[in-house]
Amino acid sequence: MHDVVVVGAGCAGMRAAIEAFDTGADVGVVSKLHPTRSHSGAAEGGINAALGNSAEDSPEKHAFDTVKGSDYLGDQDAIEILANEAPGDIYQLEHWGCVFSRNDEGKLAQRPFGAAGSPRTVYSADITGHVLIHVLYEQTMKRAAQGPLHVYEEFFAWRLAIEGGRCVGVICWDLVNGGLKLVTGKSIVLATGGMGRIYRATTNAYACNGDGMAMALRAGLPLKDMEFMQFHPTTLYPSGVLITEGCRGEGGFLINRDGERFMARYAPNALELASRDVVSRSETTEIEGGRGVNGSVLLDLRHLGAERILTRLPGSRELAMTFAGVDPIYDPIPVRPGAHYHMGGVATDNWGATEVDGLYAAGEVACVSVHGANRLGGNSLMETITFGRRAGQAAAEHALSSSPGSISGAPLADAERDLGRLLARKEGERPWKIRDELGSSMLENFGVFRYGERMAKQLEIIAGLRERFENVVVEDKGDVFNTDLTGAIELGYMLDLAWVMVQAGIARTESRGAHSRPADFPERDDEKFLKHSITRWTDDGPELSDQEVRMTKWQPEVRSY
Ligand code: FUM
Repeated sequence: MHDVVVVGAGCAGMRAAIEAFDTGADVGVVSKLHPTRSHSGAAEGGINAALGNSAEDSPEKHAFDTVKGSDYLGDQDAIEILANEAPGDIYQLEHWGCVFSRNDEGKLAQRPFGAAGSPRTVYSADITGHVLIHVLYEQTMKRAAQGPLHVYEEFFAWRLAIEGGRCVGVICWDLVNGGLKLVTGKSIVLATGGMGRIYRATTNAYACNGDGMAMALRAGLPLKDMEFMQFHPTTLYPSGVLITEGCRGEGGFLINRDGERFMARYAPNALELASRDVVSRSETTEIEGGRGVNGSVLLDLRHLGAERILTRLPGSRELAMTFAGVDPIYDPIPVRPGAHYHMGGVATDNWGATEVDGLYAAGEVACVSVHGANRLGGNSLMETITFGRRAGQAAAEHALSSSPGSISGAPLADAERDLGRLLARKEGERPWKIRDELGSSMLENFGVFRYGERMAKQLEIIAGLRERFENVVVEDKGDVFNTDLTGAIELGYMLDLAWVMVQAGIARTESRGAHSRPADFPERDDEKFLKHSITRWTDDGPELSDQEVRMTKWQPEVRSY
C-alpha cells in the first residue's frame, strides 16, 4: 500500500505527487496515458501570476479580476489563495527548469490575457503547457529514481474503492497487460482533468471524458457547479484545435464577414480581451446573425507582422497551417467557440479535501472553486500548480498521520463481476454512435446560449442514449490496449455527467458567466442564485441542492468589459 496514490499525471497530478513525495510520503501515480501525453501539455498561452514585470500589478488585483471574471460565483477565500501563492509557485517552476519567455529587461515576460487588468500571463511562447508538463515529469522522474515513487503508466482508473467511509484505493484496468488491479493508498488524489469530449466541438484531447468526476459522483460525492462549461472563443474551424488567447493578447483582432472588429459593439473597453464568456457569446451572435464566414469568424494577426508571429506565436501559426491550411502571416484564421474547460467538478476545500476521508482532488476535476461561472484564461494552469501542491501536501500529511484503512476485497470483486457482464455481451449497439449523438446534441442544446425548451429536449435525448447504453457491445474481448472497452466505460461516465450538467442548467433560471439564457432569464439574479449548485447521485438520478458562495471582500457588481 502506498501512502498517497495520485490518479492522473497532468500538471495537477504531477505537482501533487512531487509535493506528497517531498512531504515524506511513498507515492503511486496512476495514469491512463504516458504522463507527458496528458492534456495539460496542450495548454498554450500561459499561466497567471501577479509578478508585475510588464506593468504595475498585485495579487489583490489578480484576485479581484478573477472574482469579477467568475461573475461573483467563485469562492473568494480560494481565489485569494490562488492569487497570493501564484508568484512563489511560478518562481519554483522557473528554478526547476521551466524555460519561460523573457522581456527586454531579462525578467519573466507577461502578456495581456482576457479580463485581466494588467499583463499577468507568464508564458513560454505559445507552448506553455508543453514546457510545464515536461519539467514536472523530469521532477517526478528524479524523485522516482531517489525513493518510493512509482508511476503506473497506462493504468485506466475505473472505480474508487471506498470502505467504511474511507477511500482506500482505485480499481484500474491495466491497459498493457489486461486485468483489473487495485492500487491502494492511505490517501487518494484525483487529478484526472476535465470532460470537454462530452461536446462534439472541443479543444480537449480524446482522454478528457470526465473520468474522475464520474467516479466520484458514483461513489456518492457531491459535484459542484456542473452547469458551467467554458467555450473558448478561438478554436480552429473546423477541427476545434485551440488557437491561443495569446494571439489576442499579442494584439490580434476578431473580424466578421465585413471585416468589422465587431467586439467594439459588445465590449467597447476590453474589445477582444473581454472575458471568454463575453467573447464567445459575441462571436455566436455574429455567426447566427449571418455575419460569419462558413460558421466561423476570423482571427486576424496579419498586422502583427511576421517576426512577432514567428517568435511569440509559432505554435499557433503551425496549427493554423496544418489544420486549416491558413498561414496567419498572410491570411486571417477561421475560428469559433468550442468547449474548452469545465468550471465545476468534485467539491473540495482549499486543501483539496473532499467530504470522503482520505480522498482529495485537484485541477480541472475539482471545484475548489476559483473559477465560479467563468474562468479567466491562464488561471487554470496556475490552479493546477497551486492547488495540486496543496492537495499533495494535505494528502501526504493525512497519510503519514493515519493507519491504513481496511480493505475487504469487495469493491474489486464487484468490479470483476460488472466487467465480466459487459464483456460477455455478444450483440448490441456500438458505443461510438451513442457518443457521436451525445456530442452533437450537447453542442446543439447546451452550448454557448441555452434555451428552456432545448435543455428539456436534451434531457430526453440523454435519457434515450442512456437506455441504449444499457445494451452497448464491446466487440474486442482482448487484454492488450482494449480501447473498445475503455471507450465504452468512458461513454458511461459522460452520459452520467451530461445528465447532471443539463439538470443543473435547467434549475439555474438566470444568466451568469458561461450559463446564458438570453430568451427566458437574460439577467443575473443574485437574490436567488448567488450560490453554487451541488449535485449528488441517487437511485432516481441526480439530486440538486445548493451551497453558499464564500465571500471575503468583494460584493457583486454589474459586470461589464
Ligand atoms: O488560450 C489559451 O492559451 C488557453 C489558456 C487557458 O485556457 O488558460
